[in-house]
Amino acid sequence: MTEPSPDLFDKIVNLSKRRGIVFPSAEIYGGFRSTYDYGPVGSLMLRNVKDAWWRSMVQMRTDVVGIDAAILSPPAVWEASGHLANFSDPLVDCRKCGTRHREDKLEDPETCPNCGAKGEFTEPRQFNLMFETQAGPVADAGAVAYLRPETAQGMFTNFANVLNTSRKKPPFGIAQVGKSFRNEITPGGFVFRTREFEQMELEFFVPPADAQTWYEYWCETRLQWYIDHGIPAEQLRLRPHGDDELSHYSSGTSDVEFLFPWGWDELEGIANRGDYDLKQHAEHSGQRLEYFDQANNERYVPHVIEPAAGATRTMMAFLMSAYHEEQVNNETRTVLRLHPRIAPYQVAVLPLSRKPELVEPALEIVSTLQPHWMVDFDQTQAIGRRYRRQDEIGTPYCVTFDFDSLEDKAVTIRDRDSMEQVRLPISDLVGWLNERLSGNS
Ligand code: GAP
Repeated sequence: MTEPSPDLFDKIVNLSKRRGIVFPSAEIYGGFRSTYDYGPVGSLMLRNVKDAWWRSMVQMRTDVVGIDAAILSPPAVWEASGHLANFSDPLVDCRKCGTRHREDKLEDPETCPNCGAKGEFTEPRQFNLMFETQAGPVADAGAVAYLRPETAQGMFTNFANVLNTSRKKPPFGIAQVGKSFRNEITPGGFVFRTREFEQMELEFFVPPADAQTWYEYWCETRLQWYIDHGIPAEQLRLRPHGDDELSHYSSGTSDVEFLFPWGWDELEGIANRGDYDLKQHAEHSGQRLEYFDQANNERYVPHVIEPAAGATRTMMAFLMSAYHEEQVNNETRTVLRLHPRIAPYQVAVLPLSRKPELVEPALEIVSTLQPHWMVDFDQTQAIGRRYRRQDEIGTPYCVTFDFDSLEDKAVTIRDRDSMEQVRLPISDLVGWLNERLSGNS
């Protein structure tokens, strides 16, 4: 197996800054505590990660519907879900240097990783990770609201709404993609752990007797999704949680893990949540959250299998697994071998020179391709440098319009991975690209 190179992390951070993928947030003011902004290239890529997930989890299925729930929610939701009582990390302070650490993440629970002092930690205190705010102008207890720390609860609180309006019955799922917020004590690893991030979650409601089968199904299906979208299988693994790691709601969880430069770490958790959430919300809200199976004249609370992934973290894994450096003509070529569906741009159109007689027809080609794909247009610098620039952001195909194109009505297409070039009539371009870019996985 190829281990990731130790300097891969720095290379991805540098590339991200250099090519408009990810910027430190509020950078002109010195940045803001592990928050990041996605630039012109990165926002396209992040959108593609979320769209690819939505495509597989909603569009290509008949048993999943989507929702888009509110980010702000009242304490009642988080009381019922157990987050107010349980969603906390144990915190210790070093008396010597004053730094704060998560006790459960310390390599040696006696030694401060910052100053090396031994036995200087305070007693652990539980620190709730939810961001609290207030809704409305009066700061009293009735105004308290929370930014959601996961998208999942929106699916549980809307279970009856969706059941009544979508004509679905178990087994069926509700999917959602959106921002979540956690006041992480130790954010870090670039966009790996941030306080504001995006999740892609599915709550899949099943008859209780089928829960284990669906749990196994979703573990396999989700692992395969990453492989289908270009991460080599040997950089992925499925790791079942030990009993001591299980969340307060889970009777079984496996993580899809990716081989990051610092070792195996979580991309996604697939949890068997049993009937915990629907029962909790039914009890706290006084509403019935059940399914009545008319065929068997049976009423039951469905069990839930939850594949919960991070969009921003997944994007980082895609960047890392796609990053390659190779020697071409005694120069280092950096190339992101991204799956075409994940690549920020699918095509770049490059007029050989800036002369209007080339630029104008090249822009016409851009207009022909834009309804189908995200197209970059670049008329600066020498053509070789423009190819390299596209390689660095993972554009699968470059289309070059040259002086011959004016005569033969053909263009040169360059393949990102093989760097091979073919000449193709402009009239065949959409069909040719379509065959290569619109896979079915
Ligand atoms: N609803 C279940 C749930 O939220 P989780 O394991 O806490 O489970 C799911 O989160 C995924 O969300 C994680 O596997 C990870 O990819 C992503 N995630 C969680 N916390 C994150 C953070 N602070 N920064 C970036 N991604 C995060």
